[in-house]
Formats: sequence, C-alpha cells, structure tokens
Amino acid sequence: MKILVFGSSGQMGSVFLESVPKKFEIIAPLRNEVDLTTEDAIQKFIYYYKPNVILNFAAFTDVDGSEKKPKLAFQINSIAPSIISSCANKINSVFFHISTDYVYNTSNNKFLNEESNINPINVYGKSKALGEKLIKENCQKFIILRTSWLYSNYRNNFFTTISKLIKTENSIKVVNDQIGSPTLANDFIDGLLTILELLNEIKLGYKVNKKIWGIYNLSNTGVTSWYGFACKIAIKMGYNPSEKIIPVNSVNYETVANRPLNSRLDNSKILRVFGIKLPFWEDSFDDFYNNNS
Ligand SMILES: NC(=O)c1ccc[n+]([C@@H]2O[C@H](COP(=O)([O-])OP(=O)(O)OC[C@H]3O[C@@H](n4cnc5c(N)ncnc54)[C@H](OP(=O)(O)O)[C@@H]3O)[C@@H](O)[C@H]2O)c1
Repeated sequence: MKILVFGSSGQMGSVFLESVPKKFEIIAPLRNEVDLTTEDAIQKFIYYYKPNVILNFAAFTDVDGSEKKPKLAFQINSIAPSIISSCANKINSVFFHISTDYVYNTSNNKFLNEESNINPINVYGKSKALGEKLIKENCQKFIILRTSWLYSNYRNNFFTTISKLIKTENSIKVVNDQIGSPTLANDFIDGLLTILELLNEIKLGYKVNKKIWGIYNLSNTGVTSWYGFACKIAIKMGYNPSEKIIPVNSVNYETVANRPLNSRLDNSKILRVFGIKLPFWEDSFDDFYNNNS
C-alpha cells in the first residue's frame, strides 16, 4: 500500500514515520517539495504518485498565532485539506485528516461525541471546522480523527514547554478550568495504524462489512485540567507541584485566543467501529516519561 504523508516533519508526522511498519511504501514530501499554500504543487504531486492513502498531518497549529494570521490559518487548515481531498477523490484514494477538540465549544462537563454541536470559539478551531466540512463535501473515502492536547518529545507542545519552565522558573501559572485528555502522539498513531492495517487488508481483498468513512474522536482515556497535567509533569520531574504550579482560572489568564472549557472527548464510536481504545492518559504519560528521561 502506497501512503503519501503531508506534515511528516511535525510532532505527529515524526512519530508516524518512527512507527509505521516497513511493509508500507511511504512518500513524505517536506514543505520545500510541496508547499501546501500552492494548489498546483499539491495537485501535481498527488497525481504523479497516485497513492492508495493520503495522510494529512500538516496544519497551522499555533492557536494564538491563528488570531493574528487568520488568512494563513484558513489557507493551511481549510483550503489545503479541501484541495487534497478533491485530489484523493479523483484518484480513488483514502484521505486521512486530523482535526481537533477545538471545533467544539461547551462549558459543561458532558463528553463530546461526533454528533455534538460544532461551535468553535477561536480562529484555529474555525479553520479546522471548515477544513472538515470541505473534506466531507469533496471526498467519499475519508477518515477525520479529532484529537486533543497532543504531546510528544517533538516540537513545542504542553509537555516540552512546561518541563522547560519547571526547570527555569520559580513557579508557573496554569489554568485549572479547561478539562480534556492529554494525548500521547505515539498512542494516537497506534490507533491510526490499526485503521491503516484494516485498509491494507481491504486492499488485499478482505471484505469489510462496516461503514467506516467519517469522523471519529480519538484521545487518551480519562480527563484532567492543564493544571492537573502540569502537576503530573512536575511530580515526575521530582518537584513539589504545590510549590511550582499555581492554579488559575481562565478568566484570570489572558491569551490572544479564547479556548473552550470542555474538551472531554467521547471515544466510543472508534471503539465500536475499529476496536480502538487508547490507554488512560496518566499511564501513558508515566511510560512515556520513564522511557524518555
Ligand atoms: N498539537 C495539538 O495539541 C493538537 C491537538 C489536536 C489536534 N491537532 C491536530 O493534529 C495534527 C498534527 O499536529 P502536530 O502537533 O503534529 O502539528 P505540528 O507539529 O505543528 O506540525 C505541523 C506540520 O505541518 C507542516 N506545514 C505547516 N505549514 C505548511 C505548508 N505551508 N506547507 C507544507 N507543510 C506545512 C509543518 O511543516 P514544517 O516542518 O515545514 O513547519 C509540520 O510538518 C494537526 O492537524 C493539528 O491540527 C493537534
């Protein structure tokens, strides 16, 4: 099975390249080969390679930066996936795209499922929501995975940022009223690989009697606040969390972009359809930290 990967230099893309079995043929152009702001370059590349599957890990992921550069955010998060999904549809390949908990926006404590209302609160969420909509319009065979609070050893993410600050600052303020699931990029990629293996079996002639195309939530199990996650990181690093991490309410913590309070994802659909269930977030974090320090 030939797989074309956009965004392979990002945190999710890097973990994917580390984890993908050798039996899959991977084509992973970098930005200097295919700039996703250029329609022509995207089309030429896809039509030349004619992959069976296209994975789009590329995005404009700077949530505050999206408020300042909305045009670029929409270009990468809405227009590029729209172009890629149209191309995928033309050559009958399967399109995988990654979306976010930030397409939702509620302040209650209910778990959000794939039918829950889409009501993004910031430009990043709006650009990702429009990306989803255009993919659904353009493409028959698509899988959109909505995840949350992604971390790994790669690039800037909450874990890499907070662990640096814990070492350099006396104390750090972290919001305690935004609730969600920290998701280890490796766990997410394990889930995605389960679906790729199934698609490979279909390609090899196995019959699958399930309707699999559509949108799925996929995050680690269990929830916490950013404050809870920061305390967990501090404890693992050998610090006293009550000295290092100061809980603050979102209204007292100013950021350029607003963030939703509720990011609890209901992952039951992906369990039902594909049998995928990611581990409890704290267990994954313990394993990740123990293996990387
Ligand atoms: N991070 C999170 O907490 C989070 C949470 C929920 C969902 N997601 C979603 O998960 C997916 C993966 O996120 P991530 O954290 O792995 O992202 P990331 O680390 O920020 O990586 C973004 C990737 O997109 C590429 N890219 C950006 N603009 C491009 C352009 N004009 N042309 C070509 N490539 C371009 C980057 O290439 P360069 O190396 O050249 O910059 C990089 O490979 C995204 O769809 C994101 O929206 C992330």
